[in-house]
Amino acid sequence: MSKSNDDSLRPATKLVQGGRRPEWTGDPRLGGSVVNPPVWRASTILYDNIADLKARGHATHDKLYYGRRGTPTVWALADALTQLEPGAEGTLLYPSGVAANSAGLLALLAPGDHLLMVDNAYEPTRLFCNGLLKRYGVTTTYYDPLIGAGIADLITPATKLIFLESPGSLTFEVQDIPAITAIARERGVLTMLDNTWATPLLFPALAHGIDVTMMSLTKYVGGHSDAMMGSLTATRAVWPKLRSAAYQLGQSVSPDDCALMLRGLRTLDVRLQRHGENGLMVANWLVARPEVGRVLHPALPGDPGHAIWGRDFTGTSGLFGFTLKGVDEAARTRCIDSLAHFGIGFSWGGFESLVVPSDPATIRTATGWTDLDPLVRLSIGLEDPADLIADLERGLRAMRA
Ligand SMILES: Cc1ncc(COP(=O)(O)O)c(C=O)c1O
Repeated sequence: MSKSNDDSLRPATKLVQGGRRPEWTGDPRLGGSVVNPPVWRASTILYDNIADLKARGHATHDKLYYGRRGTPTVWALADALTQLEPGAEGTLLYPSGVAANSAGLLALLAPGDHLLMVDNAYEPTRLFCNGLLKRYGVTTTYYDPLIGAGIADLITPATKLIFLESPGSLTFEVQDIPAITAIARERGVLTMLDNTWATPLLFPALAHGIDVTMMSLTKYVGGHSDAMMGSLTATRAVWPKLRSAAYQLGQSVSPDDCALMLRGLRTLDVRLQRHGENGLMVANWLVARPEVGRVLHPALPGDPGHAIWGRDFTGTSGLFGFTLKGVDEAARTRCIDSLAHFGIGFSWGGFESLVVPSDPATIRTATGWTDLDPLVRLSIGLEDPADLIADLERGLRAMRA
């Protein structure tokens, strides 16, 4: 058993040791080992003879079989992510976060099933429910992210899965995950969580009763805005179903990208701490500004999700929103366009700060979005927060011009 399999280790140590199994980092014939699992690029795997080929035809995911089933670089990343999530049986990797979400929903749902989907979910997750899932005979009911134990009233005999995203990545409501998972377990319904905002460092999802946890590794795990990938990590009960579906769907990830993700993973703890601290400094500055309506950040004491966040999460990442009080969209555009240290771009979780306008009213169906003030989303990076604050001050001034 590798060092990374030791559940007594704390998360920061697991980040450093995860996936570095001796059989993936060394070869006795070379007389030593390297620190990082090397990049094993492969489509074809060579067998010693036909007996060997036949034996490995039933290989599990950590024996060389065929490139699509991965090589040690891929397994090392999956293994490291599994180790980070207490209660996990295994992790599957997908070419993007969206691919991971879609593959998980497809694996766990069948025609005739009913899905409960949180109303503030990332838009492509909704598009998949309203598109392919609907075509395959799965019905979706959207629910209020603040529903908590009230989810019980929405469960029907056909309900097979409750999907959660907390905090929502545009509007930052915090869900009462323990209340929802307790009811789901009682009623025999599975739960799946988009945990990209928190990662298992700030919210170990399976320990809170979630069955499948998803991350867009593109964000904080990669951390450098140069690679895309998604993951599903699951309990022992759900794992075989997910893995079988993954083999049938045939998606595979590049070992080069896995090496980039592993590199990001090693520093996730320190980066996330700094993203969180910088983000809170900027958020607190925004709270005091007269041009700002609301700051949507669960780590702020005045935030509606603060109590649940404080109970369930061990820290904050650097993604949050704020509204511009009493102005129109043109003013928001002037503000964003005048920022020098924030890139205008989708995605988040990289070392560099990003800004986007967001318009949740057009996306939600179960709950309205009644705040008329234009909303802005910030992904706070690793710059000095004083420079970011000076930049935002410039933006707010430009807005009034
Ligand atoms: C909350 C959330 N989930 C999933 C995704 C999808 O991840 P990817 O861009 O890797 O497909 C995103 C991307 O922005 C996201 O914000």
